[in-house]
Amino acid sequence: MRRPRGQERPITGNRQNSWAFADEYCAELVESAAGDALRWARDRARDAGLNPVSAGSGAALQLLAATAGSKAVAEIGTGTGVSGIHLLRGMRPDGVLTTVDLEPERQQFARQAFHAAGFTGNRARLIPGRALDVLPRLADGGYDLVFCDADRGEYPEYLEESLRLLRAGGLVCFEGVFAEHRTVDSGVQQTDVLRLRELLRTVRESTDLMPSLLPTGDGLLCAVRLEQSTARH
Ligand SMILES: C[S@@+](CC[C@H](N)C(=O)[O-])C[C@H]1O[C@@H](n2cnc3c(N)ncnc32)[C@H](O)[C@@H]1O
Repeated sequence: MRRPRGQERPITGNRQNSWAFADEYCAELVESAAGDALRWARDRARDAGLNPVSAGSGAALQLLAATAGSKAVAEIGTGTGVSGIHLLRGMRPDGVLTTVDLEPERQQFARQAFHAAGFTGNRARLIPGRALDVLPRLADGGYDLVFCDADRGEYPEYLEESLRLLRAGGLVCFEGVFAEHRTVDSGVQQTDVLRLRELLRTVRESTDLMPSLLPTGDGLLCAVRLEQSTARH
């Protein structure tokens, strides 16, 4: 018998096991410079009490950066460099990652991690500062991909800035939109979750964006900035 639309495949406990398997599927198992650098950067993140991207989200970012043929990527929330290593691995060999973080000490760890992973210093431009102060200084239409992983309460503003920074056909990604299940929880929620819901609504309703919400890590919302001629109606 045919199930109602949207319920063709019910989400069961087994599906959750499959998601966990998918998220770990691309974890670095082999000894390599990049694998060692990723493990080192994850340890530094843990020491600092940060949540870096999961192996699954990292692999997705790498794939998306490669698919977009990325030469210029902007990252909001450098942390200790876990996501940065994935993005650099996916980008073209001459690509430059511009990455912003409030905390210069974390960026020092990221710089070391990029070096240990085999990337030369000119592949990454690390800018210390508040995202909403730094982003207006970056070039309009100059980026193939913008990855957001900083203050969840500012994600709607990061979206506005990203739309200005991206070339047509470029991609914006937001990590952490599930907010550890709070986004879909019907209880009273704090401002960060309300702002995430606002982001999810805005992205889905925009005729200038083609979105997909990937259930990897803590939820990776991705959207392509459409050419004006192909905008959704
Ligand atoms: C979850 S961590 C980023 C992890 C990193 N993307 C990774 O996977 O390795 C979030 C980072 O955002 C930074 N951050 C938080 N609010 C910020 C803001 N308003 N502007 C810039 N950076 C911010 C924090 O200092 C922290 O390093």
